[in-house]
Amino acid sequence: MATKPLVGILMGSDSDLSTMDETAAVLNELGVPFEMTVSSAHRTPGRTLEYARTAEKRGIKVIIAGAGSAAHLGGFIASEFTGPVIGVPIDSSPLKGMDALLATVQMPGGVPVASMAIGKAGARNAGIFATQILAASDSKLRTKLKSMRRKMARKVEEKAKRVEAAVKEAMENR
Ligand code: RP5
Repeated sequence: MATKPLVGILMGSDSDLSTMDETAAVLNELGVPFEMTVSSAHRTPGRTLEYARTAEKRGIKVIIAGAGSAAHLGGFIASEFTGPVIGVPIDSSPLKGMDALLATVQMPGGVPVASMAIGKAGARNAGIFATQILAASDSKLRTKLKSMRRKMARKVEEKAKRVEAAVKEAMENR
């Protein structure tokens, strides 16, 4: 397995880490090498710009940007990085992520950011979506994604069996 990072995970603050850990976990599950750091569009614009400018040369194919409040991190990165940028709106504000969602998803025409759902589900999906992008030219990753889907389906079937058995038992004991 290649160890050179293919995905860059950025977040606006270390307070976003408990959400963005979901992205790291799913990329680990799928065996996709990544790097992860903190950089803010408004607190450290120079650092963020440098990251976006050097990403392609360092071999980064997809950047995932997690940010809360007036979340312009994804858009700021996309202004320099021409690869796919995936935004994760974080529910860290009094508006519970609605502000970050709108800021991330409503990019003006020409510079897209693919916005995921608010919070942990969005962070997990960002990792899966990045893998799907990489999988377009990597059959091993396609196999891993298919196996992840099969595992998910098996879990639902197990849950269905447990619920059906519990209902049957309750009916019989009435
Ligand atoms: C955003 O502001 C960050 O992405 C974070 O979600 C939010 C709060 O940051 P801290 O005040 O916790 O550093 O830029």
